[in-house]
Amino acid sequence: MFGSRAGFIFAAVGSAIGLGNIWRFPAVAYENGGGAFFLPYLFALLTAGIPLLILEFTIGHKYRGSSPLSFARMNKNAEWLGWWQIAISFVIATYYSVIIGWALSYTVFSFKLSWGKDPQTFLLSDYLQLADAGVFGGVVPQILVSLAVVWIVTLGVLVAGVKRGIEKATKVMIPLLVFLFLIIVIRALTLEGAVNGLNAFFKPEWSQLMNGKVWIAAYGQIFFSLSIGFAIMVTYSSYLPKKSDITNNAFITGFSNSAFELLAGFGVFSALGFMAMQQGVSVDEVVSSGVILAFSVFPQIINEFPFARELFGILFFGSLVLAGFTSLISIVETFVAGVQEKFNVSRTKSVLIGGGLAALISIIYATRGGLNLLDTVDYFINNFGVAFAGLVEVILIAWVFKQLDPLKSYADSVSDIRLGVWWKICLSIVTPLVLGYMMFDNIRQNLAAPYSGYPQSFVNTYGWTVAVGAMVIGIIFMYMKRWKAGMLDGPSTKKEVR
Ligand code: ALA
Repeated sequence: MFGSRAGFIFAAVGSAIGLGNIWRFPAVAYENGGGAFFLPYLFALLTAGIPLLILEFTIGHKYRGSSPLSFARMNKNAEWLGWWQIAISFVIATYYSVIIGWALSYTVFSFKLSWGKDPQTFLLSDYLQLADAGVFGGVVPQILVSLAVVWIVTLGVLVAGVKRGIEKATKVMIPLLVFLFLIIVIRALTLEGAVNGLNAFFKPEWSQLMNGKVWIAAYGQIFFSLSIGFAIMVTYSSYLPKKSDITNNAFITGFSNSAFELLAGFGVFSALGFMAMQQGVSVDEVVSSGVILAFSVFPQIINEFPFARELFGILFFGSLVLAGFTSLISIVETFVAGVQEKFNVSRTKSVLIGGGLAALISIIYATRGGLNLLDTVDYFINNFGVAFAGLVEVILIAWVFKQLDPLKSYADSVSDIRLGVWWKICLSIVTPLVLGYMMFDNIRQNLAAPYSGYPQSFVNTYGWTVAVGAMVIGIIFMYMKRWKAGMLDGPSTKKEVR
C-alpha cells in the first residue's frame, strides 16, 4: 500500500510522465499538424484521457486487485481484458527498457561529448550498429551493459515493494526530474532562434484534421502518456488506502502530465529553432522522429551550445533516464502484481519470473536490428494495443457489463468532486464513436500500405502478430488457472500487507 496521498500521486505522475512526454510528444505533435494537433489532443485528453483515468482509478480502488483480478471481480467474463492489457505492458516493457538503456549510455557519453561532430553516424553506425530491417545481426555489447543496469535497478525497486520501493523511488526521482528539466527548458527558451522553433511547432495545418491517422495519433499519445489502457493505473490505485480521493487525484495526474508534455514541446522546439538558425536552414529540415530526435539531433544541438555543453548533455539524457525509470517501474508492476495474485507466488518470485522474462526478451532490441524492430513494435502496440484496448474497455464497461452507474456512485462516495453526467457521456458515447471510427480508418490505411515503408513480411511478423498476439495471450492467461477459492468474492485484506 502507498503510505500517503502524496506517495500515490508521485507514483501515478511518475508513471504518466515518461519517455512519451519528452521523446514522443514533440515529434508526434509536429508530424500530425503542429498547432492543429492540439485540437485532437485536447479533445482526446478531455473526453477520453481524464474520464478513463477516473474509471481506472475507480476500478482499482473499488476492487483492490491487479488488473485481471479487478476486472474479474467486476465481472468474471472481463478477466481477459486485464490480461490483454498486461500483455501489452509486457511488450512495452521489453523495448521501453532499451530506450532507457540508450539514454543511460548517452548520459555517460555527455561527459566527453563522445558522439563527436557527426552524431547521426555515431548513433546509427558506431553505437546501434544498425542492420537492415529483418536482419538481427549480433547483440551489441555496449547496449547490453546499459540494459542490464536498467533491469537491475527496476527489479530492485520492485522487489522492495510498493511503499519501500516504488513510493520512495518516485518521491526522489520526480522532483529531481522536474528540477533538471526546468533548467533545460529555460535555457532552451533563451537560445537564439527559439522563437522560430516555437512558431513551427504551433503553426497549424488545418487540413490534417480530417485525417483519421492524426486523431488516432492523438488518442494513442494521450493513452500512452497517461498510462491508461495498459493496466497500470488500475494496479496503482489498488494500493491506495481505503479512504482516498479518486476524481481529484485523476485531475492532478492528468493535468500534471499534460503540463509536462507541453513543457517538453517548448523545450524541444526552442532548441530545434536554435539549431536551424545556426545551420541557416528552416525548422522543417531539422525535425525528425523520436529516436533520431533524441539521440542524434539533440547531441547536434548540444554541440552548438555556446558553453557548458557537457552539463546540458548530462541534464537532458539524465532527465530521459529518470522519466523512463519511473514509468518502467509502473509498467513492470502490472505483470508482477497479476502473476503474484493469480499464481499465488511471493512478490520476489513474481518480480524475478515476470521481470526476468521481460529482461531476457528485451535483449532482442539490443541487437543490430533492434531499432527497426523497436520502431515497428512501438507503433503497432500503441495503435492496435493500447488505444484499441482502451476502446474495448470503455465499450465493455459501458455497454456490455453496464458498470458506469455503480462505478460513478463509488467514485462519488470517496471523492470531493462529484462526477457529472459528462463523464458517462464521454465514456459511453463520445469515445466509442470517435475512437471507434478513427480506429477503423487507421486499420484500413495500415492494411493498404505497410507501416513506414518496411517490407510487408516484417510488418506482419513484428507489427500485426505482436498486437494480435497480446490479445490471444490475454485469453490464454484467463483460462490457464483458476483463482484461489474466495479470491473473486471481493477485496481481501492481503493488499494491506504489501
Ligand atoms: N506514460 C509513460 C510514458 O509517457 C509510459 O512514457
